[in-house]
Amino acid sequence: MAASILGKVFIFLSILSIISNAHLQSKERGFISVSISEKGLDFLKNLLIGKAISTLTPLELSPIEETVRIRLVGKVDISLSNIVIYHIDVPSSDIELGDSGITITGSGATANLSMDWKYTYKNWFIEVSDSGKASVQVEDMEVGMTVSLTKPGENLELSLLESRCDVGDIDIKVDGGASWLYQGLVDAFGNHIETAVQDAILKKLSAGISKIDSLLRSLPTEIKVDDTSALNVTFVSDPILSDSFIDFVINGLFVPRHKALVSPNRHQISKASARCYNPAKMIAISLHEDVFNSASSVYFNAGLMWWKIDKIPHQPLLNTTEWKEVVPQLYEEYPNDGMALNISVTSPPLVHISDGQMEATIYADVVIDVLDDVQVVPVACISLVMSASGSAEISGNNLTANVKLDDFSLSAKWSNIGDLQISVIEPIISEVLNDGLLPELNSHLMSGFPLPLIHGFSLQNAEVDYSDSTITVCSDVAYREDNEILKKFSFSNIFAFHMVR
Ligand SMILES: *[C@@H]1O[C@H](CO)[C@@H](O)[C@H](O)[C@H]1NC(C)=O
Ligand SMILES: *[C@@H]1O[C@H](CO)[C@@H](O)[C@H](O)[C@H]1NC(C)=O
Ligand SMILES: *[C@@H]1O[C@H](CO)[C@@H](O)[C@H](O)[C@H]1NC(C)=O
Ligand SMILES: *[C@@H]1O[C@H](CO)[C@@H](O)[C@H](O)[C@H]1NC(C)=O
Ligand SMILES: *[C@@H]1O[C@H](CO)[C@@H](O)[C@H](O)[C@H]1NC(C)=O
Repeated sequence: MAASILGKVFIFLSILSIISNAHLQSKERGFISVSISEKGLDFLKNLLIGKAISTLTPLELSPIEETVRIRLVGKVDISLSNIVIYHIDVPSSDIELGDSGITITGSGATANLSMDWKYTYKNWFIEVSDSGKASVQVEDMEVGMTVSLTKPGENLELSLLESRCDVGDIDIKVDGGASWLYQGLVDAFGNHIETAVQDAILKKLSAGISKIDSLLRSLPTEIKVDDTSALNVTFVSDPILSDSFIDFVINGLFVPRHKALVSPNRHQISKASARCYNPAKMIAISLHEDVFNSASSVYFNAGLMWWKIDKIPHQPLLNTTEWKEVVPQLYEEYPNDGMALNISVTSPPLVHISDGQMEATIYADVVIDVLDDVQVVPVACISLVMSASGSAEISGNNLTANVKLDDFSLSAKWSNIGDLQISVIEPIISEVLNDGLLPELNSHLMSGFPLPLIHGFSLQNAEVDYSDSTITVCSDVAYREDNEILKKFSFSNIFAFHMVR
């Protein structure tokens, strides 16, 4: 369910922002952390500044009227209307993380405006008036804001701590009008125009920040994985901020959908996140092995961890005829019948992550069923302990896995078909496991589950790193505009344009 993946990391959108109270250590447990590196921050900064700026324009300012005393002419009423900023260009920008928050600055910005001018004055009881157009080039503008991103309550909150917009210089060009008009405009309106530009931009930035803030507050705390489970994406603490990265720690455990989590969890990600230095990547998503263990217990508790294997490439193996030599009594009682193995896991498999791989020990019961005409007859049961190892892979934005069977052992549990000679059954079971169970398991694991990324962002050149107990996905991200989140919360919506009249 892609739309819900909008997920917590919607933060990406609000990266415009962020943080204070950085070094608060949370007592709550977090099992997934998302760390945005300097490279990632740079990418987001450019993306956001580009987006934010392009949605700022066209921006219409309030009309300005003024009665001006002009030498040799007298008192003149001058009004400026239809003042519209058409284009803003921000050649350079900067993002800085600090104790006081996140500061984003755009410098050397330019803007151009067009406007209509009109003047009237009385000359010996005759009213003189004229009108025309003017354009204004705003030079050397500095726009900056500092925001904080915290988690004071249940949700992340974004607030604007400080914002400023300074216009360096303006250059007015007047089409037509009397010879005194230009100087009159510069003298009487220069400051007005500067202030109007500053106010309009600040007002819009502030509106944008509160839009993002209300979005953050309304973020879901779970993202659906499938009908059985969801990922708990509740933030457990304030984002953690250093001068070169931001870390977000989320609970990250699988929870049964619409139910409370029953299984206890033992560990947590203590140091927020692994880093990806070599080569530098934009983000690092670290997952503690308990994320997988929580998935394992949710699916186990949902009663989904059993597989009926009745088709394998070498089908005759699932026919009592093939077992004639191995378990004679089986063939005697059920000659030439089809068979199926019902492999059901007996306790939630425990996943451990270490050097380059994930390992799990899986305890299961294998019930041998005979398909006797219309009936399914369980005839024997064998305990199975499998050691499996797997590697994690990235497919789209999903973390997927591929497992292989390293080893297994069998012991008879009960039998209605005489003594089971484990050593002779073993090769048959081995073939069923490798050719039947593993492909079945891997076909489920192949789709994996979605990493908590905001919709619209996708992983690029992702690599998976293993360390003790933790998997880290190091990746760059790309952004694609046409997506559902933007349909709902477009940047132009975030920076909704209100005509000032
Ligand atoms: C504003 O500047 C942009 C880019 O330089 C230009 O394309 C546009 O025509 C200008 N508009 C006005 C009204 O001067
Ligand atoms: C989700 O995570 C939060 C934060 O750790 C926790 O308080 C909450 O109980 C978790 N929800 C479930 C259903 O486990
Ligand atoms: C089992 O094998 C026998 C002998 O090859 C065959 O006659 C029978 O149809 C098979 N049974 C099933 C269910 O495939
Ligand atoms: C397989 O075994 C599980 C667990 O004992 C049971 O719930 C399930 O119904 C069985 N399936 C079949 C097809 O016999
Ligand atoms: C990602 O995982 C979800 C949930 O398992 C699944 O529905 C979706 O198809 C997967 N996507 C990819 C690209 O594998």
